[in-house]
Amino acid sequence: MKKKFIEIIAIIGLLVTMIPFGNVHAAGANTSSNDQSLAKIQKKGVLVMGTSPDYAPYEFQTTKNGKSVDVGMDISIAKQIAKDLGVKLEIKNMDFDSLLVALQTGKVDMVMAGMNPTPARRKSVTFSNIYYQGGQDIVINKKDNKIYKNKDSFVNKTVGAQTGTMQYNMAKKQIPNVKVKGFDKGADLILALQTNKIDGIVMEKPSAEAYVKNNSQLSLINGNFNLSKDESSSAIAFQKGSNTLAAAVNKSLAKIKKKDLINKEYLKDAGSHMKTNTVDTSMWHYWKYFAKGIGYTLLISAFSVFFGFILGTILAFMRLSRNKLFKAVSTAYIEFIRGTPLMVQIMFVYFGIGLVVNIPALTSGIIAVSLNSGAYVAEVIRGGINSIDKGQTEAARSLGLSKNYTMRYVVLPQAIKNIWPALGNEFISLIKESSIVSIIGVTDLIYQLKIVQSDTYRGVAPIVVAMLLYFVVTFSLSKVLSYFEGRMKHAN
Ligand code: ARG
Repeated sequence: MKKKFIEIIAIIGLLVTMIPFGNVHAAGANTSSNDQSLAKIQKKGVLVMGTSPDYAPYEFQTTKNGKSVDVGMDISIAKQIAKDLGVKLEIKNMDFDSLLVALQTGKVDMVMAGMNPTPARRKSVTFSNIYYQGGQDIVINKKDNKIYKNKDSFVNKTVGAQTGTMQYNMAKKQIPNVKVKGFDKGADLILALQTNKIDGIVMEKPSAEAYVKNNSQLSLINGNFNLSKDESSSAIAFQKGSNTLAAAVNKSLAKIKKKDLINKEYLKDAGSHMKTNTVDTSMWHYWKYFAKGIGYTLLISAFSVFFGFILGTILAFMRLSRNKLFKAVSTAYIEFIRGTPLMVQIMFVYFGIGLVVNIPALTSGIIAVSLNSGAYVAEVIRGGINSIDKGQTEAARSLGLSKNYTMRYVVLPQAIKNIWPALGNEFISLIKESSIVSIIGVTDLIYQLKIVQSDTYRGVAPIVVAMLLYFVVTFSLSKVLSYFEGRMKHAN
């Protein structure tokens, strides 16, 4: 009873220590009277732009000399802004629905992603002036041309939209009885449409046009949505109250508008890249993407296995120890980690802890996966040690062996045979589960898979390649592990 009580207190303690993280932003927010936002950027010498490059012609990726580069009209505008501010531009890519969180937690200085300055968003961020007006359309399969005319044809049907976007909310509000499915990436939406998971996609007009131009099986209809000016335009988002920065950016935007650079240069440039995307869409052509992805996946896995193993061993011995405090801390940790999803833990490390110390995405990923794995490894080791009959320890101790000696030479050598296979399982799932780090923009295999999808406008082939690569890696590891398992049996 008392033990349980200590455990519960420890878990509550753990939670309470995390609460302050939630408030840091409010304290650090700019107040308009002493707004340092512009001065800060100029002092740093870099302007960090957050975007989600799956939205041609606004922002998308293309291959240049085997490397992926971000292009599109938003990127061109941002380059001009950085030039006018006299700073360097740095681009951080992530899923669209993470962008405003990244802005509020200071991971990026501005968000530029074809974003509509909706009233709801205006409440939490400051927007620049409008720089482009697009409008909203619906993409459908060409074969359905006769069935769908505008938004009202989708009553009782299913449409798709990117998660966290204005289109998602608009479809829900303006089409009676419609089912709206959210997807993270533009390429996933197209794939869902082509495999008839959804009947149409609500998309910004220029982006819809880009997809339709690149895929002869798709076509486009006018949405006929009721739109305010804000809902059909794009603006740049800054942290709330960053008025000096917004004013400086507005100056650049005015200059761009005056010269009509968006229509005369930026959109044309974007168009030229869209064509190069369709030159060679074979998977071989993209081997470098997959190679880079698998490299990161292996890197994260290797580090996390290493740190997870060390942490797990420490936790296991803490939990097995007679010291009540050690035991309670370790139990609370293990229960807490096992009771929360890895995805949430990753976001917590990157965005939450990131409020206090700025940890890069890759490091955050490694930390989160290691912390997570530690809890599971601890249980595997504890289980293995507990599986050794008490009689063994008693016998060894009565022969006069010390406690440590007994653990090292009697219990552990036997326990390791029980631990090994379970540990192997843990490492194999770690390789697969590490794929979630792509949500914070780590360029692992899953991340690359999505890039290849949107670059080639092909849905299934990249998935198959990624699947095979994961299998090759986990299968080889499992072979290596069972080789050692076999050797351990002989050693007996
Ligand atoms: N305009 C829409 C919005 O603000 C969607 C923008 C999506 N952008 C992107 N880069 N994927 O909600």
